[in-house]
Amino acid sequence: MKTFTVLTALVLSFLFLQCSKYTNNTHKQPAKSDSTSAVDSASQTLAAPVHELTYEEREGQFLYTKYCDVCHGDAGKGDGFNAYNLNPKPQDFSDARYMNALSDQQIIQAITYGGSAINKSPLMPPWGGRLDKQRIEYLAAYVRSFAK
Ligand code: HEC
Repeated sequence: MKTFTVLTALVLSFLFLQCSKYTNNTHKQPAKSDSTSAVDSASQTLAAPVHELTYEEREGQFLYTKYCDVCHGDAGKGDGFNAYNLNPKPQDFSDARYMNALSDQQIIQAITYGGSAINKSPLMPPWGGRLDKQRIEYLAAYVRSFAK
């Protein structure tokens, strides 16, 4: 009777050991490559900006996001979410050849008095009533920064 109890105890502890080994193995799964690749992709999205914005351009960027973005798009490509409504579409501000042919004065005119004042689409609204001269200059600086 005593040997039987000892044997049972031995068998049970053997089984227990086997089981705990097994469960330990299944817990060893954190894949190292996963965490490192997450770090890699995070550092890729933090790529250096194409060019640092000046103070004026940053002020303009703030206003642009608020008032112009909807039509002209985040990157100034004339593809804002409202652009499908526009015909003609706004010019691509990142097109350096087109933009460098415009004087600062022309850009400021367009923003202040709107499209109809420069023989362009009247769907470009005039902003002179809402934004002062300083703000319009900031906007013009930011509009130019797309083609830098
Ligand atoms: C309702 C849509 C809309 C909004 C909002 C808008 N624009 Fe425009 N914008 C246009 C359209 C359309 C044109 C193009 C007109 C054309 O080429 O006939 C244009 C043209 C321009 C031009 C002239 C570019 C050129 O070809 O000479 C400038 C500069 C400009 N927008 C700046 C701005 C700025 C800055 C803001 C924000 C304060 C703004 N726009 C807001 C639609 C918009």
